[in-house]
Amino acid sequence: MAAAGPPDLDLDLLVLGSGVAGLSAATRAAGLGMRVGVLTKAELDMATTRWAQGGVAAVLGGADPDSTDLHLADTLLAGDGLCDVEAVRVLVDEGPDRVHELIALGAVFDVDGSGQLERAREGGHSVARIVHAGGAATGYEIERALVAAVQATAATVLQRTFASDLIVEGGRCVGVTALDADGRTIEVRSRNVLLATGGAGQLFAVTTNPLEATGDGTAMAIRAGVAVADVEFVQFHPTALHHPLMPRPLLSEALRGHGALLRDKNGDRFVDEMLPRDKVSRAITARMLEQDVEHMWLDATGLDRFAVRFPTIAANLTEVGLDPVREWLPVAPAAHYCCGGVVADLDGATSLPGLWAAGEAACNGVMGANRLASNSLLDGMVFAPRAVDAIDGGIDGPSPTGAMRSVLQGEAVEAGVIGGRRLPFELGWDEGPPVTRDELQTGMSTHAGVLRSAGSLDMAMALARRPGGEGGVAAAELRNLQTVGQVVVAGALAREETRGAHAREEFPEADDALLLRFVLGG
Ligand code: SIN
Repeated sequence: MAAAGPPDLDLDLLVLGSGVAGLSAATRAAGLGMRVGVLTKAELDMATTRWAQGGVAAVLGGADPDSTDLHLADTLLAGDGLCDVEAVRVLVDEGPDRVHELIALGAVFDVDGSGQLERAREGGHSVARIVHAGGAATGYEIERALVAAVQATAATVLQRTFASDLIVEGGRCVGVTALDADGRTIEVRSRNVLLATGGAGQLFAVTTNPLEATGDGTAMAIRAGVAVADVEFVQFHPTALHHPLMPRPLLSEALRGHGALLRDKNGDRFVDEMLPRDKVSRAITARMLEQDVEHMWLDATGLDRFAVRFPTIAANLTEVGLDPVREWLPVAPAAHYCCGGVVADLDGATSLPGLWAAGEAACNGVMGANRLASNSLLDGMVFAPRAVDAIDGGIDGPSPTGAMRSVLQGEAVEAGVIGGRRLPFELGWDEGPPVTRDELQTGMSTHAGVLRSAGSLDMAMALARRPGGEGGVAAAELRNLQTVGQVVVAGALAREETRGAHAREEFPEADDALLLRFVLGG
C-alpha cells in the first residue's frame, strides 16, 4: 500500500520529466496560474535535453529562400511517408514563436558578426535553418534557461523521485505511484499527468542517450494499456564517436553540414553525407559489414575554425586524444531517438483521459518513420505547451487528429492521412535466468539494431521477456527497458518492409500496403 505523497499538493498538472517538453509545459502551466508539479528521477537539470548538441530547426526569418512550407516538405521526406501532415504543419508554423519565447526567457543562441542568428544545415534539410547554442551545446543552454524559468515560478519540484506506475481510477489517470528519495512508495495525485519522460536509448548497448533514458513513461503507459505506435522506428545517429565512452559522444550532423565527409576503411566516400540520417546510418552499417570493420571515418580536416565553431565537440575530442584538424575521426551509428511512443493527438491527449504526452515519449505524428535532424527540441517546445493550453481550455480526452487518428479511426481514414492497424500484443514474461541490463542492451544492439531480421528479432524478444530483477529503481528501470523492448520488437517483427529508421534484411524495400501506423494497446 502506497503512502500518501507530499501532503499539501493539490495539483492541476503533474509533469513527469524535466527535459525541454516537461519544463516548457511547467513554465506555461505556472504562467496560466495552474498548480503544477514537476517530478523527475534525477536532478531538475539532468534530462536528456541537456545532451542534445544540435540545434533547433525553425524558420526564423531572414534566411531566404527558406519557408515553413520547405521545412514541412523536408520533414515529410525524412519521415518516409508516415508523418501526419497536420501535425508537421503545427510544428513548423508554431515553432518560430516558441523559439522567440525561449530567447525572451534568456536562452542565448549563436549569432554571427552582425548579431544575426547563425544558421547551420544538417542532413535532410534543404537549406541552412538550424540554430545552435555554444556551437553544439544547444540542449544544455535550453535546459539552463528553462530550469531557471521553472525555478522562478511556484511550481513544486520533486527531484530524485522515480514514478513507477500510473494510477488509473474510473477510466482516468489521476496520478502516479512513485519511489521517493528514501525508497518509500508514495502516491502523487493530480487532475492531469503529462508524460514528458523522454526516450529509451538505454535499451541499446551503443547509444548517445544518458543512463536515465530508460523509457519509464512509455513503459508505464504500456502497463496501463494506453496506446503506443511507431515504436519500431528507433533512430540511430550515423556519426557517434566510436570510443568506449558511454553515452557515446556525438559528432553532430552540423559537421557534415559544414562539409565533413564520410570515408570507409580505404578512405573512399560511399554515401551522400546530407541524406536523412536513416539512410546514412544504413549505408555506414552496410559498409562496416562489407569491410568487416567496427567503424567508418568522419573527415573534418577540411573545416576551418573547427574549435571556434564547435567548442564542445572540440573539447570532447581533446579529452579522448583526437585532433579533428589533423586526423579522421572514427564513427559508427548509435541509438539516438525513439520516433514512436505514446499516441497523442495534436493537443497531446492520449487514449487515457487525464493522461497527456509530449516530447520524445509521445507519438503525435510529427516524426513519422524517421525524425528530421533538429526537429526534436522544437517538438517538445511546441507540443507540450499545447497540452497545457488544452487542459486550461477544458479539453478532456483525445480527438481524431495527429497520430491519434490511427487509434480512433483505425485504417479507415481519408486519402492522404495515415491510418492505424492494431497489433495483437500482450506484455509477457518467460521463465529462465534473470537478464541483466548489459545483456539486454547488447542483445538489442546485436539483434534489433540498424539492420533486423525475423530471426534476430526473435532473439531480442526472448531477452526482453526474461525475468528482470526485483525491487528498487535499478530493477524498475530494467523492467521498463524490457517493456519498451517488447513493443519495439513486436512492431519490428510486424513491419515486414524497410522504411525510415526500420530496416528488415528480408524486406529491403518499402511496401505501400504498410503505409500505416502499428498501434499496440489502447
Ligand atoms: C546532431 O547534432 O547531429 C543531433 C541533432 C539531432 O539529434 O537532431
